[in-house]
Amino acid sequence: MNDQIWLYLGRQAASPAHYLAEQSIQSIVGWIPSILGVGLRAVLYRAILYMEGVAAIEDGVRIRFASNVSLGRGSYLDHGTYLHACPGGIRIGAKSMVMKNTILHVYNFRNLPHAGISIGARSLIGEACILRGQGGIHIGDDVYFGTLVQVLAVNHVFADTSRPVSHQGITAQGIEVADGAWIGSGAILLDGVRVGRNAVVGAGAVVNRDVPDYAVAVGNPARIVRDLREAPLDLDRYAATPVY
Ligand SMILES: CC(C)(COP(=O)(O)OP(=O)(O)OC[C@H]1O[C@@H](n2cnc3c(N)ncnc32)[C@H](O)[C@@H]1OP(=O)(O)O)[C@@H](O)C(=O)NCCC(=O)NCCS
Repeated sequence: MNDQIWLYLGRQAASPAHYLAEQSIQSIVGWIPSILGVGLRAVLYRAILYMEGVAAIEDGVRIRFASNVSLGRGSYLDHGTYLHACPGGIRIGAKSMVMKNTILHVYNFRNLPHAGISIGARSLIGEACILRGQGGIHIGDDVYFGTLVQVLAVNHVFADTSRPVSHQGITAQGIEVADGAWIGSGAILLDGVRVGRNAVVGAGAVVNRDVPDYAVAVGNPARIVRDLREAPLDLDRYAATPVY
């Protein structure tokens, strides 16, 4: 029983003292809605995580290993987001937004060397995305994610037929999404891939190979259907549709 309690605590915070501080502060002000709650959290959460300037944290945000979280000036965590930042940490850059019900999960309990999630400046992670950062996830500046995107920087080893897959360990190489890219809704990025600068990944794509800079990739498995520099889109295509 004792072991289970320590295991539980070890999965929640960097130490029992951190657990106490993080749970107390989140319990006291984590639920308070409206601008009042946002203001209180902008002041009090500095005691448990690193915040540059003022970051807006909505009510109902759940943060574990808060001592490994860094929030940039003007960043935004929407209601229901969940950050689990065990060593390696989670860094969200200035003016970046993480929308409702998104899960940022580093989940590094195996001493993985590159685990962590970093999001650059002015990027947006849409609603209900799931990022698993065991191999490290690096998202650049001005990146735009649709809804329900999954970024999975981990794979299970499954070569040994005499043992359950869950006993064979994992590999975790890492995923990069470069500056200015757009990832369409429902896309899945698999471990080891790089999505290039200003590249576009279509809705529902499963990306298992690198997408070069300025490429458009769609489908499962994702295939490149355009190089935006070699075959530029005609801007007149938007003539009939207003661009906002
Ligand atoms: C990829 C996308 C941007 C269109 O790019 P495009 O360069 O204009 O592509 P086209 O419409 O000319 O299509 C090119 C080819 O890719 C296919 N295609 C386009 N989008 C696709 C998708 N999401 N999945 C599978 N195939 C797709 C087209 O059928 C076409 O195939 P074909 O040449 O065999 O006929 C768009 O289809 C898309 O997926 N947008 C994402 C929308 C979204 O997630 N919005 C949420 C807000 S962030």
